Amino acid sequence: MSAAGPLTPRLCRVLARRRETGDVTTLWLEAPEGPAPRPGQFNMLSVLGVGEAAISVSGSPREVGGLMHTVRDVGSVTRALCASEVGALVGVRGPFGTDWRVDDPAGPLGRGDAVVVAGGIGLAPLRGAIDELVARQEAGGSRVFVLVGAREPSQIVYGDDLAAWRTRGAHVAVTVDRGAPGWGGRVGLVTSLLEHAGFDPAGAAALLCGPEVMMRFTARALVDAGVAPERILVSLERNMQCGLGWCGHCQLGPFLLCRDGPVVPYAGLVERILTERER
Ligand SMILES: Cc1cc2nc3c(=O)[nH]c(=O)nc-3n(C[C@H](O)[C@H](O)[C@H](O)COP(=O)(O)OP(=O)(O)OC[C@H]3O[C@@H](n4cnc5c(N)ncnc54)[C@H](O)[C@@H]3O)c2cc1C
Ligand code: FES
Repeated sequence: MSAAGPLTPRLCRVLARRRETGDVTTLWLEAPEGPAPRPGQFNMLSVLGVGEAAISVSGSPREVGGLMHTVRDVGSVTRALCASEVGALVGVRGPFGTDWRVDDPAGPLGRGDAVVVAGGIGLAPLRGAIDELVARQEAGGSRVFVLVGAREPSQIVYGDDLAAWRTRGAHVAVTVDRGAPGWGGRVGLVTSLLEHAGFDPAGAAALLCGPEVMMRFTARALVDAGVAPERILVSLERNMQCGLGWCGHCQLGPFLLCRDGPVVPYAGLVERILTERER
């Protein structure tokens, strides 16, 4: 954390940028001093005179080239971030929150298969974890299954990464809700990929990120397939302001998601909260 205090952003230069889709842009920022973020955590990114937004870290600690964030333009702050050119300054506070526990021996990712399910830009908070899991598989560790759903082919992010993970031995499957001319791949919801993915549910762990409805149906389908609910992690988004557990804006039941999340176990309270929201 900066010596100036946790509410003061550090100014970091944009080192590189890439357009992912029509409204999604990836930025690589100068990494500020301090602890490297772990996959699943987020930073508060700000643009001077516009505001601040929670954006997940998309890189893994193994990667070089700067702090990677992928942003969908949905409003004033995210639009200004997506428009930030190389050399521009972006404010960074963080890293905040919980992570996917890829390296945690007490975490859900043990010796069984690792199943990662992403909906749309939900792949962004998972990208760093997948990179680490694929490296672990290459070193003789658990098999990795990456199942991705997008609304349409033009909305698929990280096409090069998906191809690289496949080449490195991960099982990668992609589906879209609606096909488009030239799309020869699968059409259907991401849950339709589960049945034929080929993972062994016994001992498997799952990491889910995407719209809440997608996570709810995916988690239920995984449990029905035999995955232990306590081995399922989900990433939840709420409006974040301080990021520090001070303001209460991110409250969900007893959780302050900036501190107790965004990555939380699905089993128990989160499962009940997600189900109640459905009614
Ligand atoms: C932990 C966490 C990680 C996130 N990671 C990413 C990421 O990696 N990439 C990314 O593009 N976005 C991410 N988001 C969402 C991002 O924070 C919001 O899109 C952003 O705050 C919108 O700000 P804005 O000023 O651009 O839009 P606003 O004008 O504030 O909002 C525009 C629209 O987006 C809705 N909105 C605002 N905040 C959220 C939110 N948190 N979740 C869902 N809808 C929201 C508003 O209701 C409104 O409809 C994350 C959010 C959280 C809490
Ligand atoms: S964002 Fe302030 S308490 Fe979580």
